[in-house]
Amino acid sequence: MKKLLIETFGCQMNVADSEVIASILSSEYSVTADAREADVWMLNTCSIRDNAEQRIRKHLKEIAAYKQRKPSLLVGLLGCMAERIKDQLLKEEEVLDFIAGPDAYRTLPDLLKRAAEGETAYNVTLSETETYENIIPLRYAANGVSAFISIMRGCNNFCSYCVVPYTRGRERSRSPQTILAEAQQLLKDGYKEVTLLGQNVNSYLWQADGKTTTFAQLMEQVALLSPQLRVRFATSHPKDISDELLQVIARYPNVCHYIHLPVQAGSNEMLKRMNRVYTREKYLERVQKIKELIPDCAISTDIIAGFCGETEENHQETLSLMREVGFSYAYMFKYSWRDNTFAARHFTDDIPDEVKSRRLEEIIALQGELSLKSNQEDVGKTFEVLIEGTSKRSTNDLFGRNSQNKVIVFPCSTHTRGEYVRVKVKSCTAATLIGELVEEN
Ligand code: 5AD
Ligand code: SF4
Repeated sequence: MKKLLIETFGCQMNVADSEVIASILSSEYSVTADAREADVWMLNTCSIRDNAEQRIRKHLKEIAAYKQRKPSLLVGLLGCMAERIKDQLLKEEEVLDFIAGPDAYRTLPDLLKRAAEGETAYNVTLSETETYENIIPLRYAANGVSAFISIMRGCNNFCSYCVVPYTRGRERSRSPQTILAEAQQLLKDGYKEVTLLGQNVNSYLWQADGKTTTFAQLMEQVALLSPQLRVRFATSHPKDISDELLQVIARYPNVCHYIHLPVQAGSNEMLKRMNRVYTREKYLERVQKIKELIPDCAISTDIIAGFCGETEENHQETLSLMREVGFSYAYMFKYSWRDNTFAARHFTDDIPDEVKSRRLEEIIALQGELSLKSNQEDVGKTFEVLIEGTSKRSTNDLFGRNSQNKVIVFPCSTHTRGEYVRVKVKSCTAATLIGELVEEN
């Protein structure tokens, strides 16, 4: 069998897509992590920020040098960058033998055949229906404990800074039956945790035979499969995280008490410019509701520093919102100008890079404090932890996550990956809880 190397960049959706790609090609290719034995080398790419694309372009130069020594190697670029800049790539990146956008993976066997015949083969057609729903992902890089299930694709939100609606097209959902079957299979294979994935999972909607399934209902159905199967989800848009969903999270102990709720900015002025369609007040109201219905729920977020026209006062409002919510974790970025987005067409990227950097540093420093505070509040508490493996620092320690998605490290020689244990937190850093096993009687 021929060998396939897939390098994945960007979000969890891309990780899930790479598993679909491996599955589509599995009759001809087995996956390898070793470039030396690869017949085909694929990059599943991300366009979200310019530096992501720059890194990939640089990597392509390295692959081009490598290909000089191994001319039979076929090199392909897949995913969001393929969708966004196919023409530019075809012109500038001679190393590429094939290019496939996020909705074109079923045509990969054909693209590869044509590439092998010397043609530069590409397909970046977006689809309104493709969800790859009947393809069982090949979990080639999973840890055997936790897996992603992609439940919907695309995005209709058109946040003004974001390329995703252009690279991944319109929203479409998979049928609940195929999602449940995939979760059942994972359970049978020994998995203990699934993460339901979509760019905007709250707008998951399935309608068939006069019946409608919402995300909250789907979540409930997955949760009911087994109390032994933890359920997570990402990502939620604050505009439509419903009370119904919060109630489902509160009701089922195996639905994790963790919500990733990207806020992006703390001022109404920036939120409006970003086309986030909620206000600071509405976001804080949702957070209040989460805390009321699920008191021990951890909330993480995404924040962009230095969006077009952001004043010092706007920036201060982001910091004050962060304090007010007390996020357990945050992904923080400098605004990156993306061609063709609403922001690129209508606003000026007018915040100097040093100002963006300084604001980002202030955001990162504050989040460091908030993460530490959030972890310190857990010292003395006991959590159920799903063990994911042995700690990188010490082979005497295991690590896993609690329901709140916090990593806990603890010394243990009697349990192993995939087991649930109870761990009492003894101390912490901003990044990790450090605990001790509580042996059950
Ligand atoms: N610049 C910086 N960050 C961005 N994100 C999306 N688009 C941009 C951009 N142009 C961030 C948002 C989003 C996360 C996945 O990436 O915070 O939630
Ligand atoms: Fe990157 Fe967004 Fe595409 Fe994911 S969907 S790979 S984050 S551009």
